[in-house]
Amino acid sequence: MKVPERIDHIAIIVRDLEQALLFYRDMLGIVPREMKDVPSEQVRIAFLPMGGPNGSEIELLQPMTSDSSLAKFLEKRGEGMHHICLQVDNIDTALRDLQAQGASVLDEQPRIAAEGRAIFLHPKGTHGVLLELLEKSE
Ligand code: CO
Repeated sequence: MKVPERIDHIAIIVRDLEQALLFYRDMLGIVPREMKDVPSEQVRIAFLPMGGPNGSEIELLQPMTSDSSLAKFLEKRGEGMHHICLQVDNIDTALRDLQAQGASVLDEQPRIAAEGRAIFLHPKGTHGVLLELLEKSE
């Protein structure tokens, strides 16, 4: 696979988006570009972009139900960093090459993410960080 191009986002899991925005928006001054519900992950996301078109974002994730994997993560670990996302140009190639090398890929197929197609790698294989690789859709 080609080297990942950039850090796309860092995702932080929170109990209450509006409460979290009191810090990230109102104190840090980062203006959200969008708030989006992603039903497939049972989550609501606030996207906080920095650095222009090639910059990166903080994503604030609020679980919308109590039985999703994100909700269970929040219950167990509390608020905090959930994952880091690197952008790749071809998610199918990345998945195939990583699987062939025995990487700790959690997905058999790319999943539909908020901004494209993505796979996740388990922290046990990435030295402690849940890692998302994302091919962005146009
Ligand atoms: Co993500």
